Amino acid sequence: MVTDFLIIGSGIAGLSLALKLSEFGKVLIITKKQKAESNTNYAQGGIASVLGKDDNFELHIKDTLGCGAGLCDREAVEKIVREGPTRINELIEYGVRFSKEKGLFMLGKEGGHSRSRIVHAKDLTGKEIERALLYDISRNKNIKIIEYYFAIDFLTERNIRSARKGKTAKKKCFGIYALDAKKEKVMKIVSQKTILATGGLGQVYLHTTNPAIATGDGFAMAYRAGCELDNMEFVQFHPTSFYEKDVEDDTQVFLISEAVRGAGAVLRKKDGKEFMHKYDKRKSLAPRDIVARAIDNELKKSGEAFVYLDLSAIGAERIKDRFPNIYETCLKKGIDITKEMIPVVPAAHYACGGVKTDLNGKTNIENLFACGEVAMTGVHGANRLASNSLLEAVVFSDSIYKYMKSNLDEIKKKEFLTKTELDKLYNKIYDWDDSGTKNTDEWILISHNKHEIKEVMSDYVGIVRNTYRLQRALTRIKMMKKEIKEFYNRTKVTVELLELRNLITVANIIIKSALNRKESRGLHYMLDYPARDDKNFSKDTVLVKKNKPGKK
Ligand code: FAD
Ligand code: SIN
Repeated sequence: MVTDFLIIGSGIAGLSLALKLSEFGKVLIITKKQKAESNTNYAQGGIASVLGKDDNFELHIKDTLGCGAGLCDREAVEKIVREGPTRINELIEYGVRFSKEKGLFMLGKEGGHSRSRIVHAKDLTGKEIERALLYDISRNKNIKIIEYYFAIDFLTERNIRSARKGKTAKKKCFGIYALDAKKEKVMKIVSQKTILATGGLGQVYLHTTNPAIATGDGFAMAYRAGCELDNMEFVQFHPTSFYEKDVEDDTQVFLISEAVRGAGAVLRKKDGKEFMHKYDKRKSLAPRDIVARAIDNELKKSGEAFVYLDLSAIGAERIKDRFPNIYETCLKKGIDITKEMIPVVPAAHYACGGVKTDLNGKTNIENLFACGEVAMTGVHGANRLASNSLLEAVVFSDSIYKYMKSNLDEIKKKEFLTKTELDKLYNKIYDWDDSGTKNTDEWILISHNKHEIKEVMSDYVGIVRNTYRLQRALTRIKMMKKEIKEFYNRTKVTVELLELRNLITVANIIIKSALNRKESRGLHYMLDYPARDDKNFSKDTVLVKKNKPGKK
């Protein structure tokens, strides 16, 4: 397989970019499951953008920087905020139907925002975006999308016969090895430009709002190829996921959107008392790091398994109209949210760090770009502001397009290979060699290891951390990493095995990054480095607000 542009992933980042790049050549999208399956598909709250009369760019910039606790890149933040309204209009042109009232966008409010600025499609924003983008893609002759293709590793010099492989050679990406999961065959895909848009890594934890596809594949592939990754310690826990007593591996816990709190719902303890006023003056609408840690603190103090979200201030009719999906799903789970409170707990939700890119979406490897959740553009810093993720994804995929557009002549002349050269390159790339490997009959090893990784990450690398716990986690992960590597080397690849290899890689990176950051900041809360004692957090969970800049 040979293509001009290879996009890995069919979420908002990959799909919106594909539609644009199709202007310049053939686009191939590969995706590991059905095409709509992605984090995007489950997005509820919406997209943050300055559209209200009482709002302005400076306020959105200030809220984003404040939430990111001193680690955001101001230029990147300004970019997403200022381009927001244009990208929202573009989504509407693609056919996305956002909720309106009297001809104007209905703007929701979420934690950390000083204004109502979240455009949404009821509480099914992501599904509506996927529907519209996939429909446009189905009508575009320059775009091909292949399902059940799993990207394994990037093709670089080391995969090419007689290529210069010395340390001084600049790394280039020529495409990927991908597993055709249906045919159980590994294919080479050679591309002029490759774009990584593989989304998040929530499945490295036991409780996550992310679907089963979110096993951090893109982060792990990039790391193995020599990409720079940054800020990987900042894993965001969403404060309010529906509490489930027992959660099986690969489960996606159900999110209760922050927009519900934006509409007036409040957090309460089992005894019915509110508690968020003790932690932040914004109460239940404080940024996520503060709310999640406050809930964690309350649960540790009380020994309870969950807190409650009380929607009574919203009113039954409005609940059903504004949050139909949350209403129906909770009803199926036995809770009528127009009458009863929802039991909620924090769950792993979003990777603020990732593959480092510049403002054009370029990574440090030639011909390789990244956008969406897998990328670290500098927007989110130590904690992402609610509903800034979909915004970042559309803005930065557009940046890749704009970069290609403004340099197209030069790129085509200097960087694109001719058809003959591409075919020649294809033949020079080693075929996937799995000689000496066997089909596995040790499924138990894969499932046990996966569970253990999730347990270690949840127990020791969660909302509240300390050096001792992180080191303990690292020791265990290192042992498993060795075992998984040996197993991988002697076994024919399957999706399950590839995901396990990526999960252990990502766990290892998160822990090492967490150990490197010797301070508490944003989502990375370290008991050993408290900056400020807050009387309302028990000793075990001291709240840290602003801290001096630390090692990045
Ligand atoms: P995704 O949408 O996750 O797409 C990644 C794609 O890559 C998928 O198609 C996947 O199958 C594919 N893929 C992954 N690995 C491989 C591989 N090895 N080979 C081939 N394909 C692969 N953000 C907001 O801004 N607003 C919200 O309201 C909001 N709500 C959310 C609600 C939930 C429940 C969740 C989980 C997240 C929410 N987020 C929200 C975050 C946001 O949805 C994601 O960050 C964003 O959708 C990521 O988009 P993406 O295109 O980068 O990745
Ligand atoms: C939500 O609806 O609460 C999720 C919003 C987000 O992740 O930005």
